[in-house]
Amino acid sequence: MKKIRELFYPSIHLFSNLRKMLVLGWEMDKKLIIGYYLTTGIAAIAIILTSFTLKYLIDNLLNAQKIQLNTASSIPFILIVVLGARYIINLISGLTSWTFQQIYFDYLLRYKLQNYLSYKFYIKLATLDIAHLENPEAQDLIAKARDTMLWRPPDMLRSFSYFFSSVVSSIASFIILISFGFWIPFVVLLSAIPLLVLRAKYGTIQWSIWGSGAPGIRKLWYFSNLLSTPTALREMKIFKSSEELLRKFKNTQDHLFELNRKPLKNYVRILTFPPILEAAVLFAIAYSQLPHVLAGALSIGSFTLLINMIDSLSGQAVGAVLNFGEMYSNGLFVDHYFDVLELPKLIKEKDKPHILGKITPPKIEFRNVSFEYSNGHKVLSNISFSIAPGENVAFVGENGAGKSTIIKLICRFYDVTEGEILINDVNIKDLALSEWYDFLGTLFQDFVQYHFTVRDNIALGNPNKQSEKEIKEAAIKSGAADFIEELPLKYDTILGREFEDGEELSVGQWQKLAIARAFYEEAPVLILDEPTSAIDAEAEYEIFNNLEKAYENKTLILVSHRFSTVRNAHKIFIVDHGEITEQGTHEELMHKDGKYAKMFNAQAKGYQ
Ligand SMILES: Nc1ncnc2c1ncn2[C@@H]1O[C@H](COP(=O)(O)OP(=O)(O)O)[C@@H](O)[C@H]1O
Ligand SMILES: [Mg+2]
Repeated sequence: MKKIRELFYPSIHLFSNLRKMLVLGWEMDKKLIIGYYLTTGIAAIAIILTSFTLKYLIDNLLNAQKIQLNTASSIPFILIVVLGARYIINLISGLTSWTFQQIYFDYLLRYKLQNYLSYKFYIKLATLDIAHLENPEAQDLIAKARDTMLWRPPDMLRSFSYFFSSVVSSIASFIILISFGFWIPFVVLLSAIPLLVLRAKYGTIQWSIWGSGAPGIRKLWYFSNLLSTPTALREMKIFKSSEELLRKFKNTQDHLFELNRKPLKNYVRILTFPPILEAAVLFAIAYSQLPHVLAGALSIGSFTLLINMIDSLSGQAVGAVLNFGEMYSNGLFVDHYFDVLELPKLIKEKDKPHILGKITPPKIEFRNVSFEYSNGHKVLSNISFSIAPGENVAFVGENGAGKSTIIKLICRFYDVTEGEILINDVNIKDLALSEWYDFLGTLFQDFVQYHFTVRDNIALGNPNKQSEKEIKEAAIKSGAADFIEELPLKYDTILGREFEDGEELSVGQWQKLAIARAFYEEAPVLILDEPTSAIDAEAEYEIFNNLEKAYENKTLILVSHRFSTVRNAHKIFIVDHGEITEQGTHEELMHKDGKYAKMFNAQAKGYQ
């Protein structure tokens, strides 16, 4: 029983994917889906009908010939009707299957589906929990889905239409063949079994290499990325490592080629032997009916129909199986897409969240907070602190101490493992996240460099307001205005190398622009998690110093691994191995002569 289930599991899974795709298509455009499969069905039936008209044509021709031999008269009306019907049906079949199904509906469905699939995909990504985005497995899944979603899912629907067409034709020919002899369609189907079995045995091997994510495939993707990244190419030039990397790339290619080649050999075997057996069986069936024709029990037209239907049933049955395989192989990739869409929501919001109301600087408090990531890595233990409204605070500590994790918890990208986070004395889990994000402006170490205009780079901080004046003010406060004025089109200059005429900025200039974006949002809480770590300590100190002046009466949270750049903060928290070991003002901490004082003196020397 278990074995049977295992055998059929791939098909059950395939049909569940197919159902999802059809539901998705239905949701997108009902008429299009109906049109697509209706024309498929009509075309399949029309081909069978053409065989029928041929039967009547032949029988009537033979009749007419007998009569005609004796008396010379005009062409019988019935012949004209049958002949005309044949071409009309042919025309309908051609129009539906070619013009409408394969050209119009197929292309339309493809274009529309591609847009729909990717739009849905990016909506999902935009609302995905950060925990998924930081999880390598989920990232891998997202990359796989993105690489295949534009063609595999539409291909699956197309192979289903071929499959559907083969099944309709098979059923029709099956029924017609029964009228010639009950046993005939069964023997025809039996003759197709060797092919089905071989196909089931080897067919999946051939297709599953990419889908199963053989370890080599990921390597190949990685190499392709690496070998086309400008920074990597630059480094490879100097280290002269490109030859070695290319050799590794080629080894992976060769290895995968071999993996793919073996099943191909089997595949060729499938395609060679069974058809020979099949041809012999079909010949035997047709041969067995010849005596009936000679005896006059079977008309020549009917005999022609019989042969056509035998061909049709055996061809379409095999076609159904091959198209099933095609559907299966496309279905493997459709999995990736739906797996992404079905990634669960980890951060759950209350049905009736607490509304904070006025968007002013809030009190932020951590009470005995401990946190571990889902991989079991304990990062924060028993942290407590409080940030008063409008306070300027700084978190300092070495790399890996847990600073960014604290920030991620403030943003509720993750939920605490123990303890609680209170915003104006309300648990963060009771807030509506969209409201909470109105309070927060954040810049992370890997902030975005938008390859749009300077204006867009700033205005994206708050798409709801379009104020030219405030854009310029933000640029002045962040110190970006100076270099913007020198750009060829000033605020209309397109940045980055993505598009033609894009101006490239230095790291420091991008940072100032990002800070201008954060200013423009005017959130009551601004968090800077080391967006300035790529520039030198002195420049970081200057930026922090300016920020503290510009962000008066609002909460400013600075994060740095440099002890020497945050000394003007109202309160400094020292994060060390997931604990807050010291806190106070610069003077208090220096007086205490602990880790802060030691690190400050060591690092300050660096730039004095
Ligand atoms: N998404 C994650 N999953 C598992 N471990 C993580 C994740 N993010 C960070 N860590 C680990 O948590 C620790 C603290 O990281 P982080 O808070 O980023 O430190 P900091 O910002 O102080 O440099 C590090 O050991 C890091 O490897
Ligand atoms: Mg960090």
